[in-house]
Amino acid sequence: MNYAHLIGVGAAVPKNVLTNADLEKMVDTDSEWIETRAGIKERHKSDDDEWVSDLAIEASKKAIEHSGMDPEDIDLIICATVTGDTTMPSIASMIQYYTGAKNAGAFDLGAACPGFLYGLNTANAYIKADLAKNILVIGAETTTKVVDYTDRGTCILFGDGAGAVVVSASEEDGGIIQSYTGGDGSLGNLLYLPGMRQRVPVSLEKDPIPLYVKMAGNEVYKYAVKSMVDSAKKVLKDSGYTPDDVKYLIPHQANIRIIEATAKRSGFPMDKVLVNIDRYGNTSSATIPLALNEAVKDGRIGKGDLLLGVSFGSGFSWGAVLFRWN
Ligand code: UT7
Repeated sequence: MNYAHLIGVGAAVPKNVLTNADLEKMVDTDSEWIETRAGIKERHKSDDDEWVSDLAIEASKKAIEHSGMDPEDIDLIICATVTGDTTMPSIASMIQYYTGAKNAGAFDLGAACPGFLYGLNTANAYIKADLAKNILVIGAETTTKVVDYTDRGTCILFGDGAGAVVVSASEEDGGIIQSYTGGDGSLGNLLYLPGMRQRVPVSLEKDPIPLYVKMAGNEVYKYAVKSMVDSAKKVLKDSGYTPDDVKYLIPHQANIRIIEATAKRSGFPMDKVLVNIDRYGNTSSATIPLALNEAVKDGRIGKGDLLLGVSFGSGFSWGAVLFRWN
């Protein structure tokens, strides 16, 4: 029996930082509102010539180096992104070339914010089925390129970043223990970004066609808490573990109030929750690997620690993955 172990992690963010004070000069908002209502102080914003593939490649190189693996031993690359700089080739194919992982198959995965957890779930399935041995899973976004900086309901939330992990097959018990993915496609009109063919969710007016992320923040908020709580509880119940067994809950960083409500209703005190939304904002599929990277590198997470990632986003899509580090 193969187990999917997470053995390396890396992350990258653009150098440019956009503070709440900067946003005050761009849109009708104020720093205190953003900090109190969303928990965000600053976020990283890509330059015009800085792309999601640049961040994903940097994060991937760091994850491979951290794992101690030879890039040529990677046999699959899954990049979760909905802000790829090209539709084809995939961002995963660019990562394959620029990391030297020349023996890897590569594809992108589009599941919005929970995309990284969907990627871990997919990697686990490949490993369990003996279809791959060493898989790079990346969550990478440059959402600031697709937010409307006249819409204060969205532009204050998002930031750019990428995080990557190496998932490796081993017969030793551990790694990914339990996972779950779910969704409700009927709610696609509450949070969406038109693609290059400009189709919008069926229920919406087509004129004028928006080019940016559109979100009914308040309604999304309620579903976010409910589906993350349900996902966390389901994965714990199915695996037989309790919040006491888990070292850290790693929730999607969409809003500090969503994080706090999710933690409370899932049975986690806040000192067992990884939070970095204050410095990065909502980086969509990158939030969980960014938080994981920080906590592994600063020593809060060590070998054998049980972790629970939980996320929610457009689709609607949601999911949770329970795993041991390393
Ligand atoms: O990652 C995928 C999932 N995404 C999410 O889960 C995001 C979910 N939603 C949210 O995080 C929150 O709904 C927001 C942060 C987007 C908004 O917070 P809220 O507490 O739900 O505010 P609201 O939309 O109910 O608006 C309250 C007031 C309104 O003013 P009035 O009508 O009461 O006078 C808004 O116009 O706050 C106003 N407002 C703002 N004021 C200053 C909305 N955005 C801003 C702003 N600055 N940026």
